[in-house]
Amino acid sequence: VQKDEDFRPNFHFTPKANWMNDPNGMFYLNGTYHLYFQYYPDDNVWGPMHWGHATSKDMITWEEQEIALYPDEKGYIFSGSAVVDKNNTSGFGEEGKTPVVAIYTYHDAEAAERKEDHQTQAIAYSLDEGMTWTKYEGNPVIPNPGLIDFRDPKVVWDDINDQWLMALATREKTLFYTSQDLKEWKKLSDFGENTGAHDGVWECPDIFPMQVEGSDETKWVLIQSLNPGGYNGGSGTQYFVGDFDGSTFTPEKNMEELEEKHPFWIDFGRDNYAGVTWSNIPDEDGRKLFLGWMSNWLYGEKVPTTTWRSSMTVARELKLVKDEDRYLVTSEPVEELQKYRSTNHVKKELNVNGNSIALTSEDLDLARAEIRFTISDLKDATYNFRLANSEGEEYIISYNHAQKQFSMNRSHAGQTGFSDKFATENATAPRISNSDSLNAIIILDKTSIEMYFDNGKTVITEIFFPNYPWDEFSFAGLEEFTVSEFQAYELEFPGKE
Ligand code: FRU
Repeated sequence: VQKDEDFRPNFHFTPKANWMNDPNGMFYLNGTYHLYFQYYPDDNVWGPMHWGHATSKDMITWEEQEIALYPDEKGYIFSGSAVVDKNNTSGFGEEGKTPVVAIYTYHDAEAAERKEDHQTQAIAYSLDEGMTWTKYEGNPVIPNPGLIDFRDPKVVWDDINDQWLMALATREKTLFYTSQDLKEWKKLSDFGENTGAHDGVWECPDIFPMQVEGSDETKWVLIQSLNPGGYNGGSGTQYFVGDFDGSTFTPEKNMEELEEKHPFWIDFGRDNYAGVTWSNIPDEDGRKLFLGWMSNWLYGEKVPTTTWRSSMTVARELKLVKDEDRYLVTSEPVEELQKYRSTNHVKKELNVNGNSIALTSEDLDLARAEIRFTISDLKDATYNFRLANSEGEEYIISYNHAQKQFSMNRSHAGQTGFSDKFATENATAPRISNSDSLNAIIILDKTSIEMYFDNGKTVITEIFFPNYPWDEFSFAGLEEFTVSEFQAYELEFPGKE
């Protein structure tokens, strides 16, 4: 029976030991991608937060580094971001060394217990490309204005309006602040009270301009996580598209009054939270790169691993597309993952009749696989995609074309008893695309599945804990149908079993 280390993914980032939640401070510099993360090094559940640190050359293979930020008398180090201050606007630079500046929330746990304002924003800088940090002596840079939830600063250099722009979350709104030197901040505006999902607390925002695919148009995207109140309850990440004039974010007409159950979510699965984008990606690259925490506050502290807890999603490329007059943010795994393809298993056409096994562990190892397929000519029927093992455990995702809805079932996918919130049976996702053919990229890594349908318009990320490894992937449907262009790759990671 699998447990603990057996559950550790092959290629998703996990801390060597103990508790991790949100990704923080992601930036790129001189060939290295940095990922910091909410980290408690002394236990396998949430506690006094530090920023852990990992680095990578390609966002796929990560190396864990020394802890970057420790809690101090001002509080725990909560989520935040980091920017490369190329023009030394902060004045932290020295002898030609470019400062990297981290902007984070101090959470004063004792003040919180006394029910006093306890969250403030602070900065720290690094002169060695993110390896060691010095906290600014003038902290906090934004005092608490009397709000209980006041956290998770995400700062970007706003090229269009020549300013540092911060998005910050409070319970029901995103707040925007501006600065010229990262030290002195002025509030600009707020957004969100009257639109979007609000069945929880807004956390971990992100804001940035994006070019609409295939056009010269620029729109601004605001990513806004909330917990609970996600699409399937618990933690989830919604987004808004609109314009930003340097001080106010104005959503598109169709996003002005979104209901709780709206269709604009970065991911509809139960396990992608608090995701944000990397800063300082070179213009020649130009991609918007994103990664989230692959868990959920409903059960994150209870999942059946003990020496380590939780992993990040695979890094993803976000795109902004215009689809029948609506703007959609899509995501797909970064192309760097394709460098790790080894064994290739191809079926040009797979005729499914009832139930057809597409792939077994003899074809390739399903604990590290990328599967791509298309179903053309969809009928008003239900299509099932199923992972299974010889012990009868299964994870099923179904697509009902009449209802245009996916549903995910992990109630027989191995261990579920650690939390009664884990295997709720009614998890669903809307199909966003109206196409009559369905394409999918599926990324499998032992204890997680990431499904990108319709070029990333509907994304579903979920974790599971099978007692035995998956050894079969199959298709089933009410009628006969054809899966065209079925391809699967085993992914191989040097130095990993
Ligand atoms: C989101 C969150 C953030 C906070 C951090 C604390 O998961 O609650 O709002 O900064 O986690 O670890």
